[in-house]
Amino acid sequence: MAERDFSVIQTADPRMKSILAVAENIASSRAAVLIQGESGTGKELLARYIHARSPRATQRFIAINCAAVPDNLLESELFGYEKGAFTGADARKLGRFELANNSTFLLDEISEMPILLQAKLLRVIQEGEIERLGGTQPIRVNVRIIATSNRDLRELVTAGKFREDLFYRLNVIPLEVPPLRVRPLDVEMLANHFVETSCSENGLALRPLSPEALHKLKTWNWPGNVRELQNVIERSVLLNSGADLIPAEGIMISGYEEVRDPHHLRPGMTVFEAERALILKTLEFTGQNRTHAAEMLGISIRTLRNKIKEYKEVFAYE
Ligand SMILES: Nc1ncnc2c1ncn2[C@@H]1O[C@H](COP(=O)(O)OP(=O)(O)OP(=O)(O)O)[C@@H](O)[C@H]1O
Ligand SMILES: [Mg+2]
Repeated sequence: MAERDFSVIQTADPRMKSILAVAENIASSRAAVLIQGESGTGKELLARYIHARSPRATQRFIAINCAAVPDNLLESELFGYEKGAFTGADARKLGRFELANNSTFLLDEISEMPILLQAKLLRVIQEGEIERLGGTQPIRVNVRIIATSNRDLRELVTAGKFREDLFYRLNVIPLEVPPLRVRPLDVEMLANHFVETSCSENGLALRPLSPEALHKLKTWNWPGNVRELQNVIERSVLLNSGADLIPAEGIMISGYEEVRDPHHLRPGMTVFEAERALILKTLEFTGQNRTHAAEMLGISIRTLRNKIKEYKEVFAYE
């Protein structure tokens, strides 16, 4: 999939528009931002949107996903280490805080940060300096922090799982991205937008959504939010050869209804079909990221690309 333009957020929803207006107003400040919202609503996109509109936009946007980095590596990823700090530390490594100096640092899924590290993070934010592991000198850093969470941080504070003092430090500008199911205007706008980008990225002629398809999209509840919509459209564009996108069963291929899942393996399938199912499922899992999908599948990106092209050709002549 082509590089997306992170400075553009498509929306027709009044609540989203007012969030974007706030985001633009606060972009130039250094105030910490806490973006909350369900998975796939566009929290990371919003963080990049703020960075792109800030004076820090000339610097590289740095991010860490606190849920994806194992607990024992998170500290050194954040703060770096000196040579010899521990066995195996055979060269100095800069932490992401240092890399984010004069830029924006996204602490993604902050709710997953271990409580001990939360204390350390709080100190760094208060003092504006970090110390590499095994280091002796504090290093001053000027970093704009944006944190995201798809779990309610205030609830986690009440449950004793998230430090209250850190919560207040992060929650200077709170932004709550609403779920897609309460943004009906966005379903239509984003669906059309993704049809356009998917068709053009895959070299296909633009085929508009039928009124029935649009109706189905508008009545679905979108548990996976914008990411799910994007996947449904991308898959429909790749799989449909007819005039209208998203036939009757289209919307059901959401991963929530296994029996109606056309990627489901079953006896009687050809190897070609099974391979296609695995590849499409993996692409769905990676949010259509072909590089990640190729890695997971153990094939080269070129092979993956050729296979996708082949599927499109086969389906176009069905
Ligand atoms: N308004 C929008 N316009 C265009 N693309 C969007 C919009 N909102 C979300 N997307 C796209 O949807 C996908 C999911 O967005 P993003 O990764 O920002 O969500 P998230 O809230 O961070 O999800 P998670 O909680 O799972 O990390 C991305 O590919 C993003 O580019
Ligand atoms: Mg995210």
